[in-house]
Amino acid sequence: MTSHTFPRVWAILLAALLSGAAPALTQAQAANELHPPAGSRDGWPQQAVRAPHGMVATDEALASHAGLEILQRGGNAVDAAVATAFALAVVEPAAGNIGGGGFMLVRLADGRSTFFDYREMAPAKASRNMYIGPGGKLDKQASVIGMRSIAVPGTVAGLELALKTYGTMKLAAVMAPAIGLADDGFPVSERLAREFQSERSDLQRFSLSRRIFLKDGGMFHAGDTLRQPELAATLKRIAKLGAADFYHGETARMVATDMARLGGLITLEDLANYQPKIREVLRAKYASDSHSWEVITSPPPSSGGVAVIEALNMLQGVPLKGWEDVESVHMVAEVMRRIFADRAAYLADPDFANVPVTGLTDPCYAKEIAATIDPRHASSSREIRAGTPHPCGISAQNLAPPQTIVSLGEGPHTTHFSVVDAAGNAVASTTTLNNSYGSHVTSSAGFLLNDEMDDFTTQPGVPNALFGLIQSEANAIAPQHRPLSSMTPTIVLRDGKLSFVTGSPGGPTIISVTLLSMLNWMRFGMEAQAAINAPRFHHQWLPDRILMERDFPADVETALNARGHETKRINRMGLVNAIGIDPATNDRLGAADPRHNGSAQGY
Ligand code: DON
Repeated sequence: MTSHTFPRVWAILLAALLSGAAPALTQAQAANELHPPAGSRDGWPQQAVRAPHGMVATDEALASHAGLEILQRGGNAVDAAVATAFALAVVEPAAGNIGGGGFMLVRLADGRSTFFDYREMAPAKASRNMYIGPGGKLDKQASVIGMRSIAVPGTVAGLELALKTYGTMKLAAVMAPAIGLADDGFPVSERLAREFQSERSDLQRFSLSRRIFLKDGGMFHAGDTLRQPELAATLKRIAKLGAADFYHGETARMVATDMARLGGLITLEDLANYQPKIREVLRAKYASDSHSWEVITSPPPSSGGVAVIEALNMLQGVPLKGWEDVESVHMVAEVMRRIFADRAAYLADPDFANVPVTGLTDPCYAKEIAATIDPRHASSSREIRAGTPHPCGISAQNLAPPQTIVSLGEGPHTTHFSVVDAAGNAVASTTTLNNSYGSHVTSSAGFLLNDEMDDFTTQPGVPNALFGLIQSEANAIAPQHRPLSSMTPTIVLRDGKLSFVTGSPGGPTIISVTLLSMLNWMRFGMEAQAAINAPRFHHQWLPDRILMERDFPADVETALNARGHETKRINRMGLVNAIGIDPATNDRLGAADPRHNGSAQGY
């Protein structure tokens, strides 16, 4: 038994529902199966970009082009992904980075899958109560802006490791497009000019950020050229000397000197100690009446893979009709509520915490939790607690109970990109500085540094600054720990073949948005672009309400309210740059997210 509430009468009804009607699973994605989007939005692309060989989908046309260029020169998906990631570090300064961290999920055409974890690490001088003032009050600024919010960056080490493990090209070759963009500059888009304007007050607090991104106060306008010579010089050193430059060489010395001069914690030793990790991917299988699906996704320190598998397990056999159907939205929102309650209690850095992944992702456990859902009425998050995860056949009582509870909010900005090459190798990668423009500090080596320390539990029992999190003790700040992440790069196979590559930014909404993209593809058989365009919603247990994108159908909201759900509209949620595979033609279907004017490019 779990500690989820369990109104018996509804459990019986739900069980009848689960065992009775044939699931409304679509047969999905054969030649004539790609359904056009319902209720699509003006000006948004209605069809994915189609190409027979390779595809790159990112937030930025210049970054997609960098990846495409590498594919066309004969590089594989990992070569192209590393090129894309470095290009994003130049053209998407809010989130693309070498001063942050990320995850890269690779699935090769021969079936091997690997998860590269280059999440940032807390420096040795970090401590559990480092953001708590003498009066016991949390300093909400310190973990999100300025030198003390910065964790040891992992991106350069992780990209080098991915390239060495599966790439075919030299680092210098895949970095060439990024170096060109930093050296020669690129035209500032309207969106980027607006971003600089809205980040102005925080960026101008740091002299290099002000000089590089605010034109020393003169401000960039759309069409101006943004050149980043310090970043170009750093990229050239990395291209020549590898990650050794970033962690042991001149770049390391520049970062450590900045830190010592301006009150940061990171030392040369912290940089030298940074290690990216290769972790085993999480896998789960789902059968529909005509297809078998396999989900390959992110293990801890991502919380997202566990959550997505737990959600899909709960939804297995639940009839879903679409997002204009209140029953479907209700059921998925109730599932989201429960996976977030479990995330709150159990997920943390697996190198230091005992995360019960097997129990959380077990279908038996999901069945128990799903049975607590009332199919007609909203549950109350006050009464929903994390469950007691256990695999089939093992008593739940033997496992430690959950620790503390979590509440999550939404926040900008992170970036997800997907790559598929001509051979069918696939990469899903999500990378971040945490907040938009991270700590807002630009190092003298020309790149923005993250504020990932705020993803830790900054004060037990008190919401952290960026996402309003009250997080578990297992995610407390400690030297060399990785903060818990929601980033969820994911790859889906259909009948054993590559089918869908997905993931998103959006803090905790990453998990919901990634899950919705998968349901749109796997369960509703939407065409790839339709799966990305479809309106999104999110429930994160606490606060107890459903967030809905602004153009979510009004009658669905009214019906949800009648069931007892509180709802709140937000402008947009997540940015999924996905690639689907057309099973009939094997074409790559690049579906970039129109919410950011993303770009899919193929050949
Ligand atoms: O790793 C995480 O979960 C967060 N640092 C991600 C932040 C994020 O997605 C903000 N972007 N929209």
